[in-house]
Amino acid sequence: MREQLEQIRAQALEQLGDAATPEQIEAVRVRVLGRSGELTEIMRRMPEVPREERPAIGRLVNEIKTQIEERIAVLSEQLKRLAMERSLVEARIDVTLPGLNVPRGWLHPVTQSRERMLDILESMGFEVVETPDIEDDFHNFGALNFPPDHPAREMQDTFFLFGGLLLRTHTSNGQIRVMEQRKPPLAIVCPGNCYRPDELTVRSSPMFGQIEGFMIDRAGVITMAHLKGVLTEFLRAFFGPESAVRFRASFFPFTEPSAEVDISCLLCGGSGCRVCKQSGWTEILGAGMIHPNVLRAVGYDPEEYQGFAFGMGVERTALLKLGVEDMRLFFENDLRFLRQFRSGEAVS
Ligand code: DAH
Repeated sequence: MREQLEQIRAQALEQLGDAATPEQIEAVRVRVLGRSGELTEIMRRMPEVPREERPAIGRLVNEIKTQIEERIAVLSEQLKRLAMERSLVEARIDVTLPGLNVPRGWLHPVTQSRERMLDILESMGFEVVETPDIEDDFHNFGALNFPPDHPAREMQDTFFLFGGLLLRTHTSNGQIRVMEQRKPPLAIVCPGNCYRPDELTVRSSPMFGQIEGFMIDRAGVITMAHLKGVLTEFLRAFFGPESAVRFRASFFPFTEPSAEVDISCLLCGGSGCRVCKQSGWTEILGAGMIHPNVLRAVGYDPEEYQGFAFGMGVERTALLKLGVEDMRLFFENDLRFLRQFRSGEAVS
């Protein structure tokens, strides 16, 4: 029995060499120390051993058991350390390295300006509605009271597409689109891009953004005074409370009466400079009371409903606010230019 025990010990220790894998270690543990393992088997056979030898055999069994348990503990510890070292090498994490600077983008200055304008208008109770860039003659011209022979419909002023469609020349189509679908009271702003076959120059571009706005309620509720109040408030919120605002009589087919709105030149403060052509004022908006023919075109009774409308160019307004002199800079996407307008602060 003693011999058998020594054999068990020798075999187990040999298998528990330094290169033993976790599976091999587990196999030895089960075979030798397990509940029906070799040592248990010996213990079970103890009655066969002469009485006087039993204590010595018992001690030997315990000694072997402890020795093998300790060997397994050492090997497991070693394996754990190796695994940790390997994972550290593989992951190669050097926590002392400086962090990577992940560059963050920012909004284009024209986008910043448009969002600021819409924020102000929304805070005044207007709802933002998107309307289509591709239009038909009715929504871009006819319903807006452009006579059939109006020069804006001619080839050089409009991009015509196939099938009687065109690229909208202004966001005033938004008035028609919304009024066709809904009934007053309405307070709506329609931002979007517009297209005209113009050269890209210091002050113009073939594609440009506009914001159209209108407010309609029962006749007599919304007047020209509200138009003046809303636009003056809006312009002072956007350009600063010290800006002076001026309304000039003008003409648009879709409004009567019509006005153009000027603000005091931001550069010279009204005293006259090159940018405002010595006038002290810059034109910023078109506006007016919605023409009865426009209301009729969408099935509203002009005796029942009345309202005002306005429209403004986004890039032009951004130019003034940001003190940029050349519209082309907004479209070239030269980072040296754009970096100057990184945060929203320039327009807030
Ligand atoms: N649609 C005009 C344009 O493109 C801008 C405009 C002027 C819009 C007067 C209006 C308005 O709603 O009342 O130049």
